[in-house]
Amino acid sequence: MSARVTICCGSGGVGKTTLSAALAIRLALAGRRVAVLTIDPARRLADSLSIGAFGNEPRAVPLERLGDAKGGSLDAMMLDAKATFDGLIRRFAPDEATAQRVLRNRYYQFASSRLGGAHEYMAMEKLLELWQSDAYDEVVVDTPPTRHALDFLQAPDRLSHLLDQGVLRWLVMPATKGGWRAIELGSEAVARVLKRLLGRGTVGEIAEFFESFRDMWEDFRTRSDRVHALLRDPATRFLLIAAPDEAARTEALFFLDVLGDRGLPFGGFVVNRVLPAPAHDLDRDRLPEAGPLPPERWRAVLDGVVAAHDRRRRAAELHARAIAELRAAGPPDAPCWIVPDQGRDLHAFEDLALLLPHLPGAD
Ligand SMILES: Nc1ncnc2c1ncn2[C@@H]1O[C@H](COP(=O)(O)OP(=O)(O)O)[C@@H](O)[C@H]1O
Ligand SMILES: [Mg+2]
Repeated sequence: MSARVTICCGSGGVGKTTLSAALAIRLALAGRRVAVLTIDPARRLADSLSIGAFGNEPRAVPLERLGDAKGGSLDAMMLDAKATFDGLIRRFAPDEATAQRVLRNRYYQFASSRLGGAHEYMAMEKLLELWQSDAYDEVVVDTPPTRHALDFLQAPDRLSHLLDQGVLRWLVMPATKGGWRAIELGSEAVARVLKRLLGRGTVGEIAEFFESFRDMWEDFRTRSDRVHALLRDPATRFLLIAAPDEAARTEALFFLDVLGDRGLPFGGFVVNRVLPAPAHDLDRDRLPEAGPLPPERWRAVLDGVVAAHDRRRRAAELHARAIAELRAAGPPDAPCWIVPDQGRDLHAFEDLALLLPHLPGAD
């Protein structure tokens, strides 16, 4: 039985990293064996999840602090794209010498860490590895802070495209301008590095990379196909994390369209940092007319309190409206979880506990 995969996506800063960690804790406390793959967590969050600086391997997160885990467990890891790529090269290289040749190759070193999409692609690779491992019931995935919220979805396709186009064209017309363009991928940075390499007379290095890589190409293609299947598995769901405002809603709905176009399973909205309406009405006339201050200052205090209360109520109304509009524009009956704003940044493990009751459960 492969794990259920939950992918938390959405635009930058909406709370993907925070909520994936909290969701993973929630599922683990419900007795599930959970892995959370996180990307760039805040320092303190990484520390409290015990993933420190070397995060590519699963680290057990102690759950006792939050209660009885009923046999559940949580492993956290932080994506190290370069280490993941290196691991694949070691695994697929036909022999040690080829692996070393690729790992030492300067074009590989550049491409594996800085080429557009490498990070996103490796997030999917790591996910595949966890999914296939049989060690987990649930895999929760945070998504990279991409320039464009959808880049990571295209990463597997883009890499196999790169391999096809890049390798073939390179072999056919290595030193022509067109050949270069094929591996430039529209990236100024790549072009600059290639020129620098060329300037040093090391064209051979790029040729060597593609030459050595040719044998592994098929393995990478196969894995891309598996990622493709994994993302469309009935046990996979994409949670769209959104903020309760207009711009975020537009982005969330755009994302929803793309999921639909690509046949990827939408699992619901999670609207984060929602301001709850004030618990009580505040009637100016019922506030005590006199207080422990001179009358004028006391009146100013009361005015301030009433104005703050009003602002809060209006903000809560705007949020409620934004959520209603998001739901109305989404598929009928789509699940929607509302996570209240905690009024401060959440970086400690214990902070995440505040979010648990508002997140999807284990069933
Ligand atoms: N419900 C919440 N209440 C208060 N602060 C939150 C909440 N959710 C997230 N945050 C804070 O918002 C910031 C961005 O969250 P993060 O998870 O890093 O977003 P993303 O991964 O989408 O870029 C962090 O400082 C985090 O502590
Ligand atoms: Mg993040």
